Amino acid sequence: MTAHYQVRDGVAVITLDNPPVNGLGHATRLGIMAGMTRALDDDSVTAIVIAGAGAAFSGGADIREFGTPMALQEPSLQTVIDTIEASPKPVVAALHSVAMGGGLELALGCHYRVVTKSARIALPEVNLGLLPGAGGTQRLPRAIGLEAALNLIVSGKTTTADAFGHTRLVDHMVEDNVVDAAEKYARNVAHSPGVHPRLRDLEVQHESADAYLGYARMTVAGAAGLPAPLKCVEAVAASLKPFDQGMREEREAFLHLMATPHSRALRHAFLAERAASKIPDVPADTPLRTLAKVAVIGAGTMGGGIAMSFLNAGIPVTLLETKAEALERGVATIRRNYESTAKKGKLSQEQVEARMSLLCATLSYDDIKDADLVIEAVFEDMGVKKAVFRQLDEIMKPGAILASNTSTLDVDAIAAFTKRPQDVVGMHFFSPANVMKLLEVVRGKHTALDVLATVMALAKKIRKIAVVSGVCDGFIGNRMIEQYSRQAGFLLDEGALPEQVDRAIERFGFAMGPFRMIDMAGNDIAWAIRKRRAVEQPSFNYSKTGDLLCEAGRFGQKAGKGWYDYKPGDRMAYPSQQVNDMIVEHSKDLGIERRRISDAEIVERLVYALVNEGALIVEEGIASKASDVDMVYLSGYGFPQWRGGPMRHADEVGLYNVAQSIRRYARGYQGHAWEVAPLLQKLADAGRGFND
Ligand code: 3HC
Ligand code: NAI
Repeated sequence: MTAHYQVRDGVAVITLDNPPVNGLGHATRLGIMAGMTRALDDDSVTAIVIAGAGAAFSGGADIREFGTPMALQEPSLQTVIDTIEASPKPVVAALHSVAMGGGLELALGCHYRVVTKSARIALPEVNLGLLPGAGGTQRLPRAIGLEAALNLIVSGKTTTADAFGHTRLVDHMVEDNVVDAAEKYARNVAHSPGVHPRLRDLEVQHESADAYLGYARMTVAGAAGLPAPLKCVEAVAASLKPFDQGMREEREAFLHLMATPHSRALRHAFLAERAASKIPDVPADTPLRTLAKVAVIGAGTMGGGIAMSFLNAGIPVTLLETKAEALERGVATIRRNYESTAKKGKLSQEQVEARMSLLCATLSYDDIKDADLVIEAVFEDMGVKKAVFRQLDEIMKPGAILASNTSTLDVDAIAAFTKRPQDVVGMHFFSPANVMKLLEVVRGKHTALDVLATVMALAKKIRKIAVVSGVCDGFIGNRMIEQYSRQAGFLLDEGALPEQVDRAIERFGFAMGPFRMIDMAGNDIAWAIRKRRAVEQPSFNYSKTGDLLCEAGRFGQKAGKGWYDYKPGDRMAYPSQQVNDMIVEHSKDLGIERRRISDAEIVERLVYALVNEGALIVEEGIASKASDVDMVYLSGYGFPQWRGGPMRHADEVGLYNVAQSIRRYARGYQGHAWEVAPLLQKLADAGRGFND
C-alpha cells in the first residue's frame, strides 16, 4: 500500500507511504482517493488529516512516472486535489521534513496546514524544466502573496517553513509531533460553522502587479533560452485572473513544458545523478567502513582543495607533506581561500576558524597511521606514488582505505605496490577540488565492494557527485575529452579558427570552448600527454597545431599567451593574429585547402566525438551505464544541463543520425581516425537509445 488509512477518535488519518519520499505516483494517488472516499462515507469521521510516513510529507509528483502512461492516468493529482478541496469535512495537511512540488500543491489544496518549523518547502519544478502543474502557481500566490510566490516558483529554491509563519500557507506551526498536532487541530475545526477555507476563494492583491511582472519577465528572459522560467512567470501572472482561468493556463503551460527536450533532459539529469550512486554489483545494504579520521598526502593544488572539501563538511583532516615549507604554504593557501570567501560575506570569521581548527598539519606518517581514509595527492609520477603507497602499506592500520587522486596513472599498478589491493581505490577529484562537484571513483581490479560503497557514501557527505569508473587511460572524463580536443584540432587544420570553434560550442551551451579551456588548464599539460601518447601509440594521429603553439611558448593564460592573447589582470581571451596565421600556414604545409566550416559541423564533430568515446566506455564496462557518462560531463565538464549530457543528447538526436554523421565526417581529412563505436551502431540499428 502506498497510503494507509486509520481513524482515531473521529479523525481519519491518510498517511502517504511510498518510500523514499512519498512521490505522488498513480498508486499513491489511488490510495489518497480511497482514503478520502472512506472518510467521506463514514459518518463517524468528522475531519481528515493527510500526513506523510518516513522522511517526507511528499517530494512531489513521481518523477520516474513522467513520460509514461501512468503519469496521465486518473486520478490525476489535480483530481485528488479537487476532491480534497471540495470535501465537506475539513482536511488538514500535516507537513514535516519535505513538502515539495506536487506534495506542496496537495497541501495547498487542503483546508488547513499544520507545519513543523523545519519543514522544507519548495516548488522546484523549474529545475526539471517544468512549472508546478497541480495548482501551485495559482494557490501559492493566494497563500503567500504574488512576489514571494513568484520568487519561490521561478527560483525553485527551498525555504524552511518558519519563513511562512505569518502567511496563509501555515495555519499552525509546531516544533515536532506534527501528526498529533494536526489531529488535534482537525478535531477543533471539525465543528466550526460555515464552509472550510479554500485558497482558491482568495484574490491575489498587488499594488503594481503589471510593473512587477514586467520586471520579472525581463529578469528571466536571459535564462539561457530555457522556456520554463518565463512560463512560470506567466502562470503566476495568471493568478490575478479568476481561479479556474488561471488553472487552465497553468495546465496548458505544464503540458507544453513536459513535452520539451529541455525538460526531458533535466529529468534525465535528476535521475542520472541518483542512479550514479548505485553500483550494479554492490548491494545497497553493504556494510560501510567507519570513516572518522581522514588524511591527505600532498598539500599542493589538489591536496589543499581535497582537504577543504572535508573541512567544509565538518570532517577533521590531517595534511601531510615532506617539507615544512610546502606544508606551511599549503595550510596558508587553505586559510587564504577561506578568508577570501569570508570577505565576500559567504562565511563568518567564526566559520573560518571552525574549519581551520579541524585541520592538522604534519610531516610525520606517525600522525596519520590511525586514519580510516588516506588520499594521496602527490606529484603525478609513478616512482613518487610507489614510495608513498609502500609507506602507507607499512604503517596504516588494517582496513584503512588507501586512495589515490592520480589523473592519468594506472590505479591497479598503484594498488600492486601494497599487500592490500582490496583497500586501494582511485578518488579523482577535479580542480579546484573544493568547488568542483565531480568525483570519479576509480575501481581497481581488486577494490573491495565495501570500499566502493563507503567512498560513494562519503562523496554524498562532502557534497560531491560520485561516478564510478573502471581503470583506463583518462578514466571516463579525460578519455572522452581527448577525442573532443582531437576533433577541435582537426577543425583548425581544415578551416576553422579557435574563436569560431569556441563560439559555436559555447552557443550550444558549453560553459567554455575547447581552446579557452586548454588555455586555462595549460597547453603544456596536453602537450605532455600527446608526447606520451606518441610513444605508446605512434599511429595515433592528431593536429600538430597544439605542439607548434607550445614550441612557441604559448602555454596559455599563465604565460599570457596561448590559443588567444591575454592582457595582465584580464582573463578575457583576445583572438591572436599570430596563432591564426600559424594555423593557416600549417594547413598549407599539410596541403589542405581550407574550407568554410559551419557552426553545426563544429558542434556535431565535437559532441559526437564525446558520444562515440562514451559508447566505447560503456561497452568496455568502464562506466556501468550511459547515464554515468552523462553525469561526468554534466558535473565536471560544463556540458549544458538542459541537454542532459552527451549520451542523452545523442538519444534526443537519434543514434541513427549520430552514426550517419560520424560516418560522413569520417570521410574527411581525419577519416581513418574515426569509426562508429560498435555499441552506438548496434543501438542505432535496433532503433534504441543509450538510456532506454
Ligand atoms: N519522484 C520520485 N522519486 C523521487 C522524487 C520524486 N519527486 N524525489 C526524490 N526521489 C527519490 C530519488 O530518486 C532518490 O531515489 P533512490 O533512493 O532510488 O536513488 C530518493 O528519492 C532520495 O532522493 P535524494 O537522493 O535526492 O535524497 P535527499 O534526501 O538528498 O533529497 C529531496 C530529497 C529534497 C526530496 C530531493 O530528492 C528532491 O529535491 N527531489 C525532487 C523534488 C521535486 O523536484 N519535486 C517536484 C516533482 S515535479 C511535480 O511535483 C509536478 C507537479 O507540479 C505536478
Ligand atoms: P602539486 O604539484 O600542486 O602538489 C603536489 C604536492 O605533493 C606538493 O606540495 C609536493 O610537495 C607534495 N609531495 C610530493 N611528493 C610527496 C611525498 N612523497 N609525500 C608528501 N607530499 C609530497 O600537484 P597537484 O596538481 O596538486 O597534483 C597532485 C595529484 O593530483 C597528481 O597525481 C595529479 O595528477 C592529480 N590531479 C591533478 C589535477 C589538477 O588539475 N592539478 C586534477 C586531478 C588530479
